[in-house]
Amino acid sequence: VHNHHLPLTFHQDASTAIPTQFIWPDEEKPTQDSTRALLCIPTVDLADTESAVRMVKEACAEHGFFQVVNHGISEELLDDAHRYTDAFFSLPSSEKQKSKRVAGESCGYSSSFTGRFSSKLPWKETLSFHHRSGSNDVSRYFATTMGLHFNRHGEMYEKYCEAMSRLSMTVMELLGMSLEVGRRRFVDFFQDHDSIMRLNHYPRCQTPNLTLGTGPHCDPTSLTILHQDDVCGLQVFHNKRWLSIPPRKDALVVNIGDTFMALSNGRYKSCLHRAVVNSEKSRKSLAFFLCPSMTKIVRPPEELIDEKSPNGGRKYPDFTWTQFLEFTQKHYRADNNTLSAFA
Ligand code: SIN
Ligand code: FE2
Repeated sequence: VHNHHLPLTFHQDASTAIPTQFIWPDEEKPTQDSTRALLCIPTVDLADTESAVRMVKEACAEHGFFQVVNHGISEELLDDAHRYTDAFFSLPSSEKQKSKRVAGESCGYSSSFTGRFSSKLPWKETLSFHHRSGSNDVSRYFATTMGLHFNRHGEMYEKYCEAMSRLSMTVMELLGMSLEVGRRRFVDFFQDHDSIMRLNHYPRCQTPNLTLGTGPHCDPTSLTILHQDDVCGLQVFHNKRWLSIPPRKDALVVNIGDTFMALSNGRYKSCLHRAVVNSEKSRKSLAFFLCPSMTKIVRPPEELIDEKSPNGGRKYPDFTWTQFLEFTQKHYRADNNTLSAFA
């Protein structure tokens, strides 16, 4: 367990080396020009279901990333979520530590853990908490860890998570239609989802080419819905290159995670991605991770299984989210292959 805090308060000039724990191996360091090449992801208009289904199908078969507009989340709610996130990360460290992540738990505040993604430290701090639809988990989390002053934070994030939860069901309808297994198939499966919300803050770094904000990984979850502030940083590994997804204020970036790749019997891709940092601006992103309920069995619909193929047509065995999560914590592979290793 590492115990090195992000040197947010260090005075850094260009010649100051960052602590070695944050320096990534050469083969993983971002190259100078890596933020310039862009990944064209489709912009899916949720008001036009027919073309949305077509675009989602194509994007998911290729790399699993697309962005949605006309998503029904108000600009005001998105702004509030970013404002409250700024307010949280601007607190003195002693205040943030009140919601400190407990070893072995996926929730809480963290500025100093290696996570599953690498032996190196990520240049970021995060706050994560659970969300289940119709519960008051989020409000309760803020009230119990941060105290009563944080009621407003809790209520706002609760509202944000409810909005993400509804949006993820709309996306599940599109995924069901695009795989021709029916509009309700995945919506029913995720009805009792147990999801995670994560706020990311990437401080400025004078030597951004030595480190990473988030190391290369595939999301183990089912679906991720991300809102970035106006600073570029998210990159996807596609056709053997790292390509950036530029932020767009009115859009949310959606990507397929390993668990949905398994649910689609490998038809839809969960793709390697990372976040880079920069020397000019700090960056924030808000990530909602849709996860199945812990004990539900992840198994693709029969229509997607061709029994005459090898392995009875199954790409991956049945598993529960609990089992897969445990596996990823022990055997994380930065080569895009955690799910295959599990199988
Ligand atoms: C992540 O994939 O975990 C972070 C993505 C981002 O901050 O843009
Ligand atoms: Fe991710």
